[in-house]
Amino acid sequence: MDGTGRWAQRQNLPRIEGHRRGVASVRRTVEECARLGIEQLTLYCLSSENWKRPQLELDFLMHLLEQYMIEERSIIMGQNIRVRMIGRRDGIPETTLREVDKTIDMSAANSGTRLCLAINYGGRAEMVDAVQRIAQAVERGELSASAIDEQCIARHLYTSGMPDPDLLIRTAGEMRISNFLLWQISYAELWVTELCWPEFEETVLHDAIRDFAARDRRFGGLSPS
Ligand code: IPE
Ligand code: MG
Repeated sequence: MDGTGRWAQRQNLPRIEGHRRGVASVRRTVEECARLGIEQLTLYCLSSENWKRPQLELDFLMHLLEQYMIEERSIIMGQNIRVRMIGRRDGIPETTLREVDKTIDMSAANSGTRLCLAINYGGRAEMVDAVQRIAQAVERGELSASAIDEQCIARHLYTSGMPDPDLLIRTAGEMRISNFLLWQISYAELWVTELCWPEFEETVLHDAIRDFAARDRRFGGLSPS
């Protein structure tokens, strides 16, 4: 969800106004994914590198996240959405975690679209955490080094039990991954739009999905044709 600050600057508005408008795009996108029956949507809300930003902007982002969790709860329940979070909990304010956890617990038995919020998330940090947990299991004698395979690694990532993304959408035109789901996107289709996140709407999501559906996904093999 990139380009919220740039969008605001272009309209001569403060960066935080871009973040505020970004929440409206989150609402539209989550609700449209649920309506379309998309199995899972992961939103990159805050990266582990975003802490370099001014404290005021970070406080505002946390406040927006809290507000979103509170205000969207009834829609999340009404649309049968399951919420989950990935990322390191340390560093995220207690009050924010409380609202996120409340929505996660409340929606745990829902069976529709899984909404995964990446908060204080970094792909490399996730791998470090996974390697530590695997090494600890080996130390305790619960796992042998030779039993470590791709499934084992995937089980120790934050995304354990979640399918890998099929499609990665990036707004605001940057051609980079920025430490997002490094392991999980190995065969994801990439789709980049010049539009900034506050400009992202249902029709843009439809364009991305339509383009995705036309891709020839070979996974290293050959086309059936
Ligand atoms: C993405 O927009 C939102 C967050 C990282 C929270 P940015 O804040 O990165 O906006 P730009 O890239 O500066 O325009
Ligand atoms: Mg950015």
